Amino acid sequence: MSLTTVSVRTLLILGLCQVGRRGLASAPEVKEQPKKIAIIGAGIGGTAAAFFLRQEFGPGVKIDVFEAGKVGGRLATENIGGDDYETGGSIIHPLNLHMKHFVDQIGLSPRADVPSKVAIFDGKELTFEESDWFIVNVFRMLWRYGLNFLRMHMWVESILDKFMRIYQYQQFGYSFSSVEKLLHAMGGDSFLTLVNQTLEEAMLAEGFSQVFLNDMVAPVTRVNYGQSVRVNGFVGAVSLAGADSGLWAVDGGNKKVCSGLLYNSKAVLIPARVTAISVKLRSTRAGATTNFYEVNYVEESGSAHSFYDIVIVATPLHQDVSQITFSGLSPPIPSTFPGQYHQTVTTLVHGILNVSFLGTNAKAADFRVTDVLTTDQKGSFINSLSALTPVHVAKGYRPPPANQRKVWKVFSPQPLSEDQLKQMFLSWDEVSETRWLAYPSYSPPQRRTPPFILHDRIYYVNAVEWAASAMEMSAISARNVALLAHHRWHEQTAKIDQEDLHTRLRGEL
Ligand SMILES: Cc1cc2nc3c(=O)[nH]c(=O)nc-3n(C[C@H](O)[C@H](O)[C@H](O)COP(=O)(O)OP(=O)(O)OC[C@H]3O[C@@H](n4cnc5c(N)ncnc54)[C@H](O)[C@@H]3O)c2cc1C
Ligand SMILES: *[C@@H]1O[C@H](CO)[C@@H](O)[C@H](O)[C@H]1NC(C)=O
Ligand SMILES: *[C@@H]1O[C@H](CO)[C@@H](O)[C@H](O)[C@H]1NC(C)=O
Repeated sequence: MSLTTVSVRTLLILGLCQVGRRGLASAPEVKEQPKKIAIIGAGIGGTAAAFFLRQEFGPGVKIDVFEAGKVGGRLATENIGGDDYETGGSIIHPLNLHMKHFVDQIGLSPRADVPSKVAIFDGKELTFEESDWFIVNVFRMLWRYGLNFLRMHMWVESILDKFMRIYQYQQFGYSFSSVEKLLHAMGGDSFLTLVNQTLEEAMLAEGFSQVFLNDMVAPVTRVNYGQSVRVNGFVGAVSLAGADSGLWAVDGGNKKVCSGLLYNSKAVLIPARVTAISVKLRSTRAGATTNFYEVNYVEESGSAHSFYDIVIVATPLHQDVSQITFSGLSPPIPSTFPGQYHQTVTTLVHGILNVSFLGTNAKAADFRVTDVLTTDQKGSFINSLSALTPVHVAKGYRPPPANQRKVWKVFSPQPLSEDQLKQMFLSWDEVSETRWLAYPSYSPPQRRTPPFILHDRIYYVNAVEWAASAMEMSAISARNVALLAHHRWHEQTAKIDQEDLHTRLRGEL
């Protein structure tokens, strides 16, 4: 990492404090503010959208957030063995500036750090085990993979440097009408190429070895996205950044960010499932006609509908996920877009691990590995196995060794059978299973990512997941969509899809 990148990043981090203050300043108001905005979904995408929309449109607009399940969506916890544990999105990168900003704004804090230790399991034995000594790890890597490992860090760093540009653009109020344009503004053609090829192709082209990909990279894409190195290169790089140091989570559970953002934005939570969205014409007092959106929903007391000026869809419009019908819109919006969401099953087990399952001779009492990643092997029924720490870590907490009963998290493509549990655990007293449609099944090249703009004033936050699905990506997309909604409402086209922002803004930092 060069000195200049460090200082640019520091500036960005400091600069983010200004974000809130920019607020309404961007609008020389040419038109009344919208009166009502609907957001569908109270995951991190929807609640971040509420937060940013409030920032853009001010205190006057009514913001309703519809949620069919629980606030937090794919950020969720389960109670097992007397404590709460993350079952969905769990780790946050140190340079995820929106997440950082939210946590500060809401008054939450990062969870206390607990030491971790990674190992890689090939179905028979542990082929790699992290040492407590940094230098030992470096030499082991050099010995086995030459410079691949160090070069990987540099490669991911260079992508991350470009990625960080988005914060500056958003700080200046710039927005993008498509995922492709957003990616292009960050990383130029190289980012577009990255989403359109597999991580494997991208890394082989960069000179990484196939052995390194199989041994070290695939385990990372498997734990983060349940998929192989054939995911797209961009989500692959995001995944590899997720193997950096300094990863964090929110004290008390990541989903607290969502409820905090809802509260902070003074949005109204409507516990209901949205079933349909249609466009209606309304004549104004002046005799002109404007269109507005009718949102139909089902709540406990029955069906109802409300009218909105702007609608934000913050849930995936893919098969089996949200089931929203759009009608009367031209051009029509499909209720499902092509492509599928990938199933990942999270199983929490309160029990005692059979360490021999991992082919190790270590005594359970000495076994301190916390994260077991796996290589892509036929017949392997797990993606990863991790010793969990509760969402809140008490002072002086020390992770118990493997000979004691504790909570393990298994990611697998299919639910675990009783027999599979028996292979892994000597005993257990509680099991909790969550079946997620977790993230897209990535299979580049991709025809086209879904649009941010579904209709005149209907926006789609989750389009971004086809580049990469992560909390921060939803937050970036939420900010983009809030800016887009604002600029399009006030017809400020100069803040949309500007080319070459990187060069133009360089002088402004
Ligand atoms: C197992 C797992 C591990 C992950 N690990 C990480 C990680 O470590 N780090 C990371 O950054 N990301 C991780 N992710 C990805 C991350 O969790 C997601 O990208 C992010 O949470 C998506 O947020 P969202 O708000 O866009 O969508 P969601 O969280 O899915 O929110 C959509 C919400 O809309 C609601 N909804 C759906 N349909 C309707 C309807 N018709 N009417 C009303 N409400 C509706 C849903 O109930 C849901 O609450 C992981 C995901 C999974 C599943
Ligand atoms: C990705 O590849 C597909 C098919 O090869 C092509 O149609 C599409 O335009 C490409 N997208 C980008 C962003 O390069
Ligand atoms: C633990 O796992 C090993 C290796 O799979 C197996 O041989 C052994 O029987 C298991 N122990 C118990 C008590 O189930």
